[in-house]
Amino acid sequence: MIEIADPAEMRRWSRAYRAGERRLGFVPTMGYLHEGHLSLIDHARKQSDAVVVSIFVNPIQFGPAEDLASYPRDLERDRAAAQRRGTDCLFVPSTTAMYSSDPTVRVGPGALAAHLCGPYRPGHFEGVLTVVAKLFHMVEPDIAVFGRKDFQQARIITRMVQDLSFPLQILVAPTIRESDGLAMSSRNGYLSSTERTAAARIPQGLEAAHRAFRAGTIRTSELVAEVRAILEIEPVIRIEYLEAVDPNTLEPVDLATGQTVLAVAVRIGSARLIDNVLLADGIGADNMPD
Ligand code: PAJ
Repeated sequence: MIEIADPAEMRRWSRAYRAGERRLGFVPTMGYLHEGHLSLIDHARKQSDAVVVSIFVNPIQFGPAEDLASYPRDLERDRAAAQRRGTDCLFVPSTTAMYSSDPTVRVGPGALAAHLCGPYRPGHFEGVLTVVAKLFHMVEPDIAVFGRKDFQQARIITRMVQDLSFPLQILVAPTIRESDGLAMSSRNGYLSSTERTAAARIPQGLEAAHRAFRAGTIRTSELVAEVRAILEIEPVIRIEYLEAVDPNTLEPVDLATGQTVLAVAVRIGSARLIDNVLLADGIGADNMPD
């Protein structure tokens, strides 16, 4: 595995690699890699000849009251994990290399940030799109893989690529979960053991909504009430939002179809956790680790 820090060198490496008609896959991350991130490398590898993984904790996607300073970092461990999983190139740009010129222009998500996480994290998706656009220009991949766990993020990035004619394809990979169903996240480490136990109610709630949908409930207010009842068993869980949305527009819907996505954000202690389910599938369709 080669490691590159300089964006210009990254682009040179990518262009030399792709000159041989070889397909380059890309997995952008903020590091502290877990099985969810690593599954994206597997996905990228299946669709390409070499895989670039980036690690960059992007300051402009964190709000002033968010966890930028405490965001977990462990480059040594990440380097070993990425290499073991077959990464060909690890791209680790510094913050100064990424934002050297005191930039003023950013890429905006438009109406896709009007729901779900958007209102709770002002400027977040603009920060994500801006860094992802920059990373795409530095890495110039044929495909890039994102996780379904961050459903709104994956949708907004797919639209950016479509709307701004980026010459690459976006793939969205399933959510990898712990054995009790909790979606893997770098932020799960913020939970105490009691909070961690309570967090299992999130996938339980989503699964209950899936079962209710399969049993014939299509009113999203009723499906949301199912989830809410399960989350409310745990006093440590504070619901930020719980919404049934159209998977394309991300607009709330009153009557569910199999394509409807039920998305949730909660706060437990100092952690903010998100998850979602395609009502037709349930979380059983996501990969569980061994
Ligand atoms: P990060 O939170 O590090 O996530 C990197 C990628 O891993 C994202 O595509 C995310 O959806 C995916 N991922 C996280 N947990 C997952 C899980 N349990 N199962 C499957 N995939 C999972 O998302 C970001 O970083 C940043 O916003 C980024 C896109 C890198 C831009 O800074």
